[in-house]
Amino acid sequence: MIRFKHVITRTPSKTLIDGLTSANLGKPDYQKALDQHNEYIRALQQCDVEITILPANDQFPDSVFVEDTALCTPYCAIITRPGAKSRLNEIEIIEDCITQFYCNHVERISAPGTVEAGDIMMVGSHYYIGLSARTNQQGAEQMIAILSKYGLTGSIVTLDKVLHLKTGLSYLENNNLLATGEFITKEAFSHLNIIEIPEQESYAANCIWVNGNVIMPAGYPITKAKIQALGYNVIEVDTSEYRKIDGGVSCMSLRF
Ligand code: GLY
Repeated sequence: MIRFKHVITRTPSKTLIDGLTSANLGKPDYQKALDQHNEYIRALQQCDVEITILPANDQFPDSVFVEDTALCTPYCAIITRPGAKSRLNEIEIIEDCITQFYCNHVERISAPGTVEAGDIMMVGSHYYIGLSARTNQQGAEQMIAILSKYGLTGSIVTLDKVLHLKTGLSYLENNNLLATGEFITKEAFSHLNIIEIPEQESYAANCIWVNGNVIMPAGYPITKAKIQALGYNVIEVDTSEYRKIDGGVSCMSLRF
């Protein structure tokens, strides 16, 4: 059974209000976003992990979403190459921190490959990589080649309707997979125990498992009940301001 020791997060920048979005929910309130980030950190503090909090960076509105900039596996970290132009150089501000944890086991995706790790879901030693507007075929193939050097495997899945693979899916360990929309019936995941998240709660399909706890967005009672019924300790966090810029609980941290 996997156990995470470390979590990396980044304080949201004031420029967060200009983060990329397709949500049509208005601009985030910065103070509220900051308070919600603190609540997120408090949730992680209940999960027996050491938390690194990187400083806010005004240059990159979406830089609070550290998950997209690196894939942290048990054996290596892979610095990605974000497909959103405004996010591409976010990798420059994560690299030092990643190197501190992984020393000389740091790999990189190179052009013309693009990958945002919100498109990658770990299930044991296998990594599902979603092809999206942000992650392309070359990037996914590079990722699989790097993983194989470390005895890990990867496979490509397609997605049609959501930003990142993990927008609609969360693996909660113990064979349990939260899935919504297009992912409920995807052949690639049919061997897992699919927990269907209804359309009206689709935002809550993005949760994180952290050492037996599941951190999820607040306000989704059907999803909460389904996760609790599986025996997990559920910790709810209000992420309303991050939802406005297409962000959820997984994008806000790296866990390894
Ligand atoms: N605003 C999150 C993203 O588009 O990457």
